[in-house]
Amino acid sequence: MTPSPVEFADVPFRAIVEQSIAGIYVVLDERFMYANDTFAAMFGWSRDEFIGRRMVDCVTPDSVAEVMENYRRRISGEAQTIHYQTKGVRRDGGIVHLELHASRVEVRGRPALAGVALDVTQRVIAQEQLRRSREQLRELTHRINAARERERSSLSREVHDVLGGMLSSAKFDLSRIVRRTGEPGQEELQAIAVNLVALVQETIDTARDIANELRPVSLDLLGLGEALRQGLQRFEGRFAIACSVSVPSQPLHVSAAAATQIYRIVQEALTNVARHSKARNVRLSIEEDAEALTLRLADDGCGIEAGSPRHDAIGLLSMRERAREIGAALTVSNGEEGGTQLLLRLPFGPTDAEASP
Ligand SMILES: Nc1ncnc2c1ncn2[C@@H]1O[C@H](COP(=O)(O)OP(=O)(O)OP(=O)(O)O)[C@@H](O)[C@H]1O
Ligand SMILES: [Mg+2]
Repeated sequence: MTPSPVEFADVPFRAIVEQSIAGIYVVLDERFMYANDTFAAMFGWSRDEFIGRRMVDCVTPDSVAEVMENYRRRISGEAQTIHYQTKGVRRDGGIVHLELHASRVEVRGRPALAGVALDVTQRVIAQEQLRRSREQLRELTHRINAARERERSSLSREVHDVLGGMLSSAKFDLSRIVRRTGEPGQEELQAIAVNLVALVQETIDTARDIANELRPVSLDLLGLGEALRQGLQRFEGRFAIACSVSVPSQPLHVSAAAATQIYRIVQEALTNVARHSKARNVRLSIEEDAEALTLRLADDGCGIEAGSPRHDAIGLLSMRERAREIGAALTVSNGEEGGTQLLLRLPFGPTDAEASP
C-alpha cells in the first residue's frame, strides 16, 4: 500500500527554508526581519548579524530608488508580486547581483514582503565579459576594414599612377623604335618591338584591372550603381557565372562612404559565391523608394550549410560590420528556391536624400 501524501500543514517548511540554497527573506517596515543563512551569506553576514538591517543599507545607492519603489508598490497592494534584478552591497563593500522574486504577505497582521533571492553575480559578470568581448570584436573588425580600405586605396593609386605611368612611357618609347625600324634589314628588330608594344599594352590593361579591383575608379566617377554593374561584368568574365543586374539608371542616393561599404559588401559576397556556392547564375538588384535603398544579391548555388562557420571566417563578420557602420540592416540567408540571398536595406536619414551619389 502506497503511503498517503503529506498534507500541506504537515510539510516541514522550517527545515526546507533553512536548508534552501536560494536566499529567503521577509521584510517588515523596510527591514529584513527574517533571513535564512543563504540570504545573509549573500551579503557576507551571519544570519544573526543580518536580521534587523534596513533594506536601504543593503543595496547600492543607485538601486535604492527602484528597490523602495518596488517595495511600496507591493505593500500598497498595487502589485502582488515583482520579479527583478538588483545590486546588493556586501559586508566587505563588494557588490552582489541578486535576482529577487517577492510578494506581499501578512506578518503579525501587518503588510510585509516574503521573497526568494538568487545570487546571479557570476552570470552578470559573464554577460558583461561577453558584451565587452563582442564590442572589442566589433571594434577590431571596424579597424581591419578601415585599414584594408586605406591600403587598397593607396595600392590602387600606386599601381594606377606610378606603374601605369612607367608602362605608358615604355610603350611610348617602344612605339618610337617600331617607327624607326622601317628600313630593310631591320625587320627582325621591328617585329620584336611590335611584340613588346603588345605585351606592354596587355600589362597596362592588367595593371588597370588590378587598380580597379583594389579601388574602383568608377565608384568615384560614375557612382555605386555603375561600379557594381562593371564589377559584376568582370566577375562574369572571370568565373563564367552568368550575372544579371538591375539598378536604377538615375544616381543612387547614397553618400560616398556608404557607397564604398556597399561595394565592398557585394565584393565580399561575390567572393563567397565564387568560392563556395557552385552557382551558375547571380542576380543583383537595387531599388530605392522614399525611405530606403534595398539591395538584393542572390545566387542559385548550394546555399549556406547549416552549422557554425569556420572559426577563422571573417567574410560575413566584416560584411555585417560594414553594414552596421552605415546604419544598414543586412541578412545573408538561404533563399526559398535554394541558393544564398543577401538582403541589405539602408534607410535614408533626413539628410541622405540630398547626398551626392
Ligand atoms: N554564397 C554562398 N554559397 C554557399 N555557401 C556560402 C556562401 N556564402 C557564404 N557561405 C558559407 O558561409 C561560410 C562563411 O562565409 P565567410 O565569408 O564568413 O567565410 P569564408 O568565405 O569561409 O572565409 P573568408 O571570407 O574569411 O575568407 C563559408 O565558409 C561558406 O561555407
Ligand atoms: Mg568569404
